[in-house]
Amino acid sequence: MVQRPIPTSWNVYNLLRSPFFQQPLESGEQTPRPLSLFVGREAELKRLRGTIHGAGENATVQAIAGAPGVGKTTLVKELKALALEDGYLTTDSYVAILPNDTPEGLFGRVLGALYDTILANRPQSGDNSAMADAKVLVRATRLTSGGITLTIPGIGGIGGTHGTSVVTPKDLLIDGPRVMRDLTRMVQTSDARGTLLHLNNLENLSESDAMRAAEILRALRDIMLLHNGLHYVLVGTADAVNMAVNTHAQVRSIVGTLVLAPFTIDEVHALLRARYDHLRVDPTRPAMSPVDANAAATLYDFFRGDLRGLLKALEDGVGVLIGLDHATAQPLTLDELRPVLQQGYASELAALPEQKRIAQLTKWGTTAPASVQTQKSLGTLWQLSQGAVSTAVSYLTRQGYVVALPRTGTNPIQYVLSGVSRLIFG
Ligand SMILES: Nc1ncnc2c1ncn2[C@@H]1O[C@H](COP(=O)(O)OP(=O)(O)OP(=O)(O)O)[C@@H](O)[C@H]1O
Ligand SMILES: [Mg+2]
Repeated sequence: MVQRPIPTSWNVYNLLRSPFFQQPLESGEQTPRPLSLFVGREAELKRLRGTIHGAGENATVQAIAGAPGVGKTTLVKELKALALEDGYLTTDSYVAILPNDTPEGLFGRVLGALYDTILANRPQSGDNSAMADAKVLVRATRLTSGGITLTIPGIGGIGGTHGTSVVTPKDLLIDGPRVMRDLTRMVQTSDARGTLLHLNNLENLSESDAMRAAEILRALRDIMLLHNGLHYVLVGTADAVNMAVNTHAQVRSIVGTLVLAPFTIDEVHALLRARYDHLRVDPTRPAMSPVDANAAATLYDFFRGDLRGLLKALEDGVGVLIGLDHATAQPLTLDELRPVLQQGYASELAALPEQKRIAQLTKWGTTAPASVQTQKSLGTLWQLSQGAVSTAVSYLTRQGYVVALPRTGTNPIQYVLSGVSRLIFG
């Protein structure tokens, strides 16, 4: 039976539902956001994929650095889908680098990810002795979050002792590397070409946590990053990646960094067009764009490459106006969208509990909305001490009203108003 889709207001554009979802694309046929919607990034994929292929038996570590919402996660998803086609083992999940991480902690999670990846791709490999040894360690690390030592009764244990084996965080770094090497050897001798692991979340790290990540990567370099046939992609903001990778020469020398540039406006139009085509109700007719090209381009300018921010603004704006403005459907213009977004985002801002911060943002937004500021210039604008400026700026950044630009050299960090603030203040 053919299922008739539930009517939505997006049908006026010949669209099944909103084309402005903000989540990354995903592999698989059944997902509402298939990777078939992926556009652009040919050069980046060629380089990432080429590095993995070109490594032969060796290990690779590649970092992908990019601003929030620029398309990092989606790029890695596409890379993984391609790697899978190429004969590498990989899975949809990733290993997070956490604030306050430790070498044992990260090593344990990476070992767990490697174990899971092999098992997911080759379910029959569970009986293999390398997998059995890995299982003991992976269980221990997963069941001992918080550094408690776990006693595992009845398992043969590492090194062949019988009865009860105790795995401490220290043991993990003693036995773990051998276990990891055995796993990668096992993959090397199988029909697979290697394994691809994804380390994410460098974006959520503060400066001191990124520094800690740098220390951890250095500590783990030889025992985690350099196993034959093991390929890593490491993802984060430019600053976090730079700090984690470039602080120590030993790490820098083995990591290639790809800086992900924002999409051009033509690529943004292609991204939107792919979504409209995919979501057609009547496939024999083209879908109409809910916004005109100029509106999309101007909004994209405000968001400086942040696709997620742009898509949210489009959804927020079009969602309110859809079906209201014209007798027959036509693309909404900037003049129509602008007041709706301004009002919506202004009332969100007004609802913030911190009145003082609203006043500070308003001062910036109403005097020089397009300006680039430093903590020093904001101190002058707000008449505040440096410590107070720093608190205010990090609050406004966390709330999405201010964006820190990637650092250049030793210059002070520069700040600009986010797309949402630009829409509020014009
Ligand atoms: N190459 C692409 N083709 C099509 N859509 C894309 C592409 N890159 C990103 N997108 C879309 O843009 C939005 C943001 O992408 P994504 O979540 O991958 O960015 P990100 O850099 O990982 O963001 P964050 O900083 O939040 O982690 C998503 O809705 C995604 O589907
Ligand atoms: Mg992401």
